[in-house]
Amino acid sequence: MVAVVAAGGVLAACGNRRSPYMFDARGSEAHRVAGLWWLMFALAAGVYAVVGGFILVAALRGRGTPEGRASRITENAFIWLGGLLVPTAILMVLAVVTVQTTSHLRRPERDPLRIEVVGKRWWWQVRYPAQRFTTANEVHVPVGRPVEIGIDSDNVIHSFWVPQLGGKVDTIPGQHNVWRFRATRAGTYLGECAEYCGVQHANMRFLVVAEPAAAFDRWVARHLTPHSAPTSDLTEKGQLVFLRETCAGCHTVAGTTAQGDEGPDLTDFGSRLAIGADTVPNDPGNLAGWIADPQSIKPGILMPPTALAPGELHALVAYLESLR
Ligand code: CUA
Repeated sequence: MVAVVAAGGVLAACGNRRSPYMFDARGSEAHRVAGLWWLMFALAAGVYAVVGGFILVAALRGRGTPEGRASRITENAFIWLGGLLVPTAILMVLAVVTVQTTSHLRRPERDPLRIEVVGKRWWWQVRYPAQRFTTANEVHVPVGRPVEIGIDSDNVIHSFWVPQLGGKVDTIPGQHNVWRFRATRAGTYLGECAEYCGVQHANMRFLVVAEPAAAFDRWVARHLTPHSAPTSDLTEKGQLVFLRETCAGCHTVAGTTAQGDEGPDLTDFGSRLAIGADTVPNDPGNLAGWIADPQSIKPGILMPPTALAPGELHALVAYLESLR
């Protein structure tokens, strides 16, 4: 128990998005799950203290006399009480609270924001069906509004998990699961795949950005009128490279002829915080390295290396970073 408390203290000290901590709840569902966990912990700690106390008493009592002292507790009463009644009561309390918590987590709320997420190899496609746009690896939600995320997979089983916002929900091919929650505080929360799914399982992360309603509306509005047209000679050259090379066969950029759907939609790529499902931060240096040889950064992914002259790579990076 001491180890558990000590570990909890160490984890609690890590408040940034790199170390998501499920007791640092920032969402309605996470609050309920954390509350249930603390109840279980308190009951387990109580049982531990009582049993430990009995062991101490048994070890120490009657030490002065050679044959010890006889117990005043009759064996039957002790077994009925400590072995049956008390454990039954504790398990009943936990069963009732667990069922209550679970049923509350599944309860649909009125007027939720609907998002569809698909687990890929090894990244997350994120669609906003009512708003009609697609992005990847970054889910934006407004603080306070109920959110309903439909979760699917077109390959193996993954698990969609944002420790600070809620419990794990598996992505199972052929089965549509739904995760409902409401972010209670603005912030950028780290999510990860919580089901072993292949060689890049550990690099299948994503970010949930919970922001005030006005900021979220601005983010949506930007996606309704994507600026895919180049605004300089450099980005114009970059777009030509993008459409000429294999990029356009696998990626989509709204407003262009690039309509591939093997890889992430890049329409808002420049506004994203990370590359490769939160594998490296999104900056020009990392992007150039990623395009030239993605396998050296994330071995096993579907994206092949692209050999480009330095000037063309520079232009392509500038074009992709300009997409917002
Ligand atoms: Cu996807 Cu592990």
